[in-house]
Amino acid sequence: MTKTRANIDFPTEIVEEGKVKILVPELKAFIKLPSDYAPSKAPVFYNPVMELNRDLAVLALQTYQKMFNREISVCEPLASCGIRGIRFATEVKGVQKVLINDINEKAFQLARYNVQMNGLSKRVTVKNQDANFFLAHYGAPHKRFDAIDIDPFGSPVPYLDSAIRALRNGGLLALTATDMAPLCGVHPKACIRKYGGKPLRTEYCHELAVRLLAGCLATTAAKHDIGISVVFSHSTNHYIRIYATTKYGAKKADESIKNMGYILHCFNCFHRETLKRPFLFANSEKCSECGSKLNVAGPLWLGKIFDGEFCELMEKEAKQRKLRLKDRIGKILTLIKSEVDAPITYYVVDKICDALALPVPPIKKVVENLRKEGFQTYLTHFNSKGIKTDAPVTNIKRTIAESCND
Ligand SMILES: C[S@@+](CC[C@H](N)C(=O)[O-])C[C@H]1O[C@@H](n2cnc3c(N)ncnc32)[C@H](O)[C@@H]1O
Ligand SMILES: [Zn+2]
Repeated sequence: MTKTRANIDFPTEIVEEGKVKILVPELKAFIKLPSDYAPSKAPVFYNPVMELNRDLAVLALQTYQKMFNREISVCEPLASCGIRGIRFATEVKGVQKVLINDINEKAFQLARYNVQMNGLSKRVTVKNQDANFFLAHYGAPHKRFDAIDIDPFGSPVPYLDSAIRALRNGGLLALTATDMAPLCGVHPKACIRKYGGKPLRTEYCHELAVRLLAGCLATTAAKHDIGISVVFSHSTNHYIRIYATTKYGAKKADESIKNMGYILHCFNCFHRETLKRPFLFANSEKCSECGSKLNVAGPLWLGKIFDGEFCELMEKEAKQRKLRLKDRIGKILTLIKSEVDAPITYYVVDKICDALALPVPPIKKVVENLRKEGFQTYLTHFNSKGIKTDAPVTNIKRTIAESCND
């Protein structure tokens, strides 16, 4: 153990997260300018803000393991200091082995040290390879993993093909994407290039981001005759995350591809609609509410982005655990559970009030009033001012105006 630590030649400190203690770069030692983003300045990447991401990953993996009730193998090909994989091995019951890997030699050294420090050398193996090269060794029957967690810098797309090959039938794939500028439509060309779908700079761009990533995963998996189901997803801080299970078979892939389509958006009146014509879009649709030209996002995933049972079990799991961010996690899971069956896209009340020069009424009042009118209406974890509803935009605007006077 001492020998391994001797190879770590930069300032470090021990942090506690979940049930583990991890040696990480001492972030404040790497800040030279006030504008410096410490996690990327350190020789090994470590971001304390991603604790929530890792907590939810632990809960999702435990939920998956309990659904199948057997021992599972897990892989984290972009592991950095190893914190996530070490948490899986320590905090998720039924994890038989974890393979973690990072291309950065210093990350590899640190991860190896952390595995030893947590007494996990028998169950956790650490490698120092390119992620795709590493995953390629596991893309054959009996070698594949039950779960793979891809948590890269930016986009997970460069690793999708090899992750899908290395995942067994019925496996769980978790993906983080932090490249929100392309996914939210600031750099549409980059999004089309990477994800194969057009983004739009709308108020619900974070949901579009989840659907673009899920769509990219579905089409990539389909090339291997594999179908996907998205069991959980969330948009938090500066990133999005999806959890999908796979099913082998050409028919499963065909069924999955049927979930591809477009979202049409009217920038004039806020109207939006979906179009399930997987890859054939005639760019001439007009808004049914105001007659303006509709803008298109997609092709993207129009299927479910949460599974009710999976979310329910994750919430149950969260309640049983001592997590530092328990309250925040509880709020996110409660909101997600309530929006499982909600319509696609959401309206942001503030934005509509801005356009109509109205004061902003309490969001709960708007929800209550739309429900009284008989519309299905839900809050959403995507935006604290967002509502998902099947009400036409004219009714939404009228109800918001009336809610200001209540
Ligand atoms: C965002 S960090 C991972 C953080 C970690 N998963 C966590 O939860 O704290 C991304 C990591 O990917 C590694 N990386 C980048 N390109 C890679 C590649 N081609 N193969 C393997 N690792 C790579 C980087 O060295 C970095 O440590
Ligand atoms: Zn319109």
